[in-house]
Amino acid sequence: MRLILTDDYEALSRLGADLIAAFVADQPTATVVLATGNTPMGAYRELAARRGEGNFDATKLRVCQLDEYLGLTDDDDRSLYGWMDRSFLQPQSVPDENVLRLTANDSDPDAACRTYDETLATAGGYDLSVLGLGPNGHIAFNEPPAQNDSPTRVVTLSEESLDSNAAYWGGRDRVPLRAVTAGLAQLLAARQTILLVSGAHKRDVLGKVLYGPVTPDLPASYLQLAQNVTVIADRAAAPLYVLGVDGGNTKTIALVATLDGTVIGTGRGGCGDIYGAGSAQAGLSSIYDAVDSALSSAGITADRLTAACFSLAGADWPEDFQFLETELRAHGYDGKIKIVNDAIGALRSGCTNGWGVGVACGTGCATSAIAADGKAWHASFWQNGGGAAGLGYTALRAVFDAELGLVPPTALTAALLPFFQQPNVEELLHQFTRRGGTAPGKVDQLAPTVLDVAAAGDAVAVRLIKEQGALMGDYALAAARKVGIEADAYELVLTGSVFRHSSPLLVDAIVARVQSKSPAAVPVQSNNEPVFGAVLMAMELANVPVDRSIRDQLRATIPGAEFFATHPDAKS
Ligand code: F6R
Repeated sequence: MRLILTDDYEALSRLGADLIAAFVADQPTATVVLATGNTPMGAYRELAARRGEGNFDATKLRVCQLDEYLGLTDDDDRSLYGWMDRSFLQPQSVPDENVLRLTANDSDPDAACRTYDETLATAGGYDLSVLGLGPNGHIAFNEPPAQNDSPTRVVTLSEESLDSNAAYWGGRDRVPLRAVTAGLAQLLAARQTILLVSGAHKRDVLGKVLYGPVTPDLPASYLQLAQNVTVIADRAAAPLYVLGVDGGNTKTIALVATLDGTVIGTGRGGCGDIYGAGSAQAGLSSIYDAVDSALSSAGITADRLTAACFSLAGADWPEDFQFLETELRAHGYDGKIKIVNDAIGALRSGCTNGWGVGVACGTGCATSAIAADGKAWHASFWQNGGGAAGLGYTALRAVFDAELGLVPPTALTAALLPFFQQPNVEELLHQFTRRGGTAPGKVDQLAPTVLDVAAAGDAVAVRLIKEQGALMGDYALAAARKVGIEADAYELVLTGSVFRHSSPLLVDAIVARVQSKSPAAVPVQSNNEPVFGAVLMAMELANVPVDRSIRDQLRATIPGAEFFATHPDAKS
């Protein structure tokens, strides 16, 4: 089932009309079955307007009736045929002989139902079915429980249907108690189905129809198994939301999104790493801060989340995952939860098909791999070196070695002294190593300076960047081996602030090392924020197929760069 969300009922009606019109343009003589009820009326009005403009022609369609109250005369205005006639058949001038009616007359409705099914079968079944959703999960008048092979037949209306039709009849006690309905067997065999759902009162039932078990107790849930089903729902009916969280050492970001990928809530917290935040509880509170503010800015509570993915630095060992899951569930994020290492989220944010090898190069370097079958590996504590810190410390070491004449003089010296505001190399070393002293600046913020010096041609800087690139490339190859994709044409996804520098030297060095053993690897540089990957994984957890339109919608609604800013070299 494909779910498309629209802002409001008008947009739902326009889109419904677009889909019906496109179908009819393609198959002008198709057999279609059309719901009455309130929901499709906007789409039918839109189609009537388009006919007036010469943009829609339903006169060659074979139009079938979907359901009918029983115990009326065939020309009773209150019949569902009467409603369909006023809203669609007349405005579209559909000739009578093109209409397959259900009987409203209770003289022999069973025989009339059999004739309907035989005529429909001769016509080849429904090509298109346009349905509404009942508050109890009925489609047409297939009231629960309804088996998926039930034919067109007489039914007794449920209490919910009597309630929801009361207004139409001017009182609940005036609603006919019986009806005839197109069978689930016929409806589920339709070659294409459009289900229109509008309004907050349909939210819970739509959630079950889309994501719940397939059961006779919720007849519309069988649509999960039918071919070419498009559900168009307006935002009020949007059943549930997903949460994506990226917890790093400098900050934690949480995003709440609707199931079509629209970001509707954002939140930030501090260090969400249970190893790096001082205490596990401190890491957890940063995660809670970010999530709680994302939920409150979305105007929803945690029970509206259908799936949540937490992509966290500090989720390294099985006991970390267990600890985090227990704590997060206890805090109220129930339902479907996935916890991954943040290297996996970063990779997921940049790869197109959900698998590949990731090198996330920020303060540290986080390497990961996901195979096409879902097998995943993250380097965590296996990895030693790389990232902005690796570049910074090796540059500092080169400056000390050059001062001793162990390596050739390097322009790094002239660049690093003003960076740390020191007069000479000896004083620089002194500041880093004197008893009781504190470092004169953050070494991991040196990366852009080192890349600048290398880009200007300094041989020492070029060499150390190549070495760091080769090191990171080796970890990427190890990750590919771990999930068994070393020989495949995998995407090598490069994310993180260090790769945003204009010099290609570091990227080239990583790619060269990786392609020396994985010649088919395809480098992909991605600027997507790591939390993007967490949201995508939450979508998948909610059974929403992550297609291009979801990625585009996420990209269009994710907050701007300033929301994510920490310091220029921050990893995540
Ligand atoms: C009407 C029909 C019903 C309605 C459903 C939703 O022909 O078959 O199943 O589609 O009850 O009704 P509304 O759209 O009024 O909420």
